[in-house]
Parts: sequence; C-alpha cells; structure tokens
Amino acid sequence: RNILVLHGPNLNLLGSREPQHYGADTLETINSKLIELGQQRAARVDAFQSNREYELIDRIHAARLDGTDFIIINPAAFTHTSIAIRDALAGVQIPFVEVHLSNVHARESFRHHSYFSDLAVGVICGLGAFGYECALDFALRFTPKAP
Ligand code: DQA
Repeated sequence: RNILVLHGPNLNLLGSREPQHYGADTLETINSKLIELGQQRAARVDAFQSNREYELIDRIHAARLDGTDFIIINPAAFTHTSIAIRDALAGVQIPFVEVHLSNVHARESFRHHSYFSDLAVGVICGLGAFGYECALDFALRFTPKAP
C-alpha cells in the first residue's frame, strides 16, 4: 500500500506554533512515526508539506501516477479557502481522510466550514497528532468500494 500524507501551510512550524491548539510534537516527529507505523505494516508512507497551494495541487496530481492509493491530508488554513485543492482531490479520484490536530468546531466560526469534508471518506479533528495515526490505521484497512 502507498499512502501519501499531505500537510498544508504553517504546519512546518509544529512544535512551536500555538501548542495550546496544535500540541508539542514537531512535523518531523509526526512524519517519522507514520513512516515507522507504515513500515511495520508493509506500507510505504510518503509525507509532503508545503506553504504553497500550487505545490500541494501538483503533489496531488503526481499521486495519480505514482501508485498512491490513499491520501491523508491536513489542508490547514486551505481547508477553509481552497476550491483548487478540493478540485485536485476530486480530479485524481484518490480516496482521502481529512485530519485536523485541533477541534476546529470548538474554535472560530471561520474554521467550521471545510471545502473537503463532503468529498472525504471521513474527517478526524481534535485528537492532536494521534489523529494522523488513526487515519493511517484506517487507510491500511480501507478497501475501496467497487465502481
Ligand atoms: C488545522 C486547523 C486550521 O483551521 C488551521 O488553519 C491550521 C491547522 C488543524 O490541524 O487543527 O493551520 O488544520
């Protein structure tokens, strides 16, 4: 299995960024853990972070050709703004889970709407870094519905 983990803008600052919302783990710690969990279950986990919308879109397009069969994405602030990343995910037709470290529903109202949730297989929010591990566990059990 090939799982792609995508992290949106500002998530490179994890560890020092608003730890009351996002916890103390760095992105590197989160990614290493996911890669290790993947290895234990014979899955390849590739992680990519960008602060640029087009780079996330290009990585999603590349996923169509590189054998990715599931995407775990935390679009970060693009969750609430990006029709373009939404369209990229819809375009490649790769199933995905949306993850947020914080419980976006307990925060400002502008964080309550997501351009991704209705296309996602599921959404995890508020579980901190553990949410990514849950998403990976789910991805490794997931079998797509026959077309
Ligand atoms: C976030 C929540 C978003 O509202 C915010 O813009 C982020 C991170 C989260 O993981 O909780 O950057 O996606």
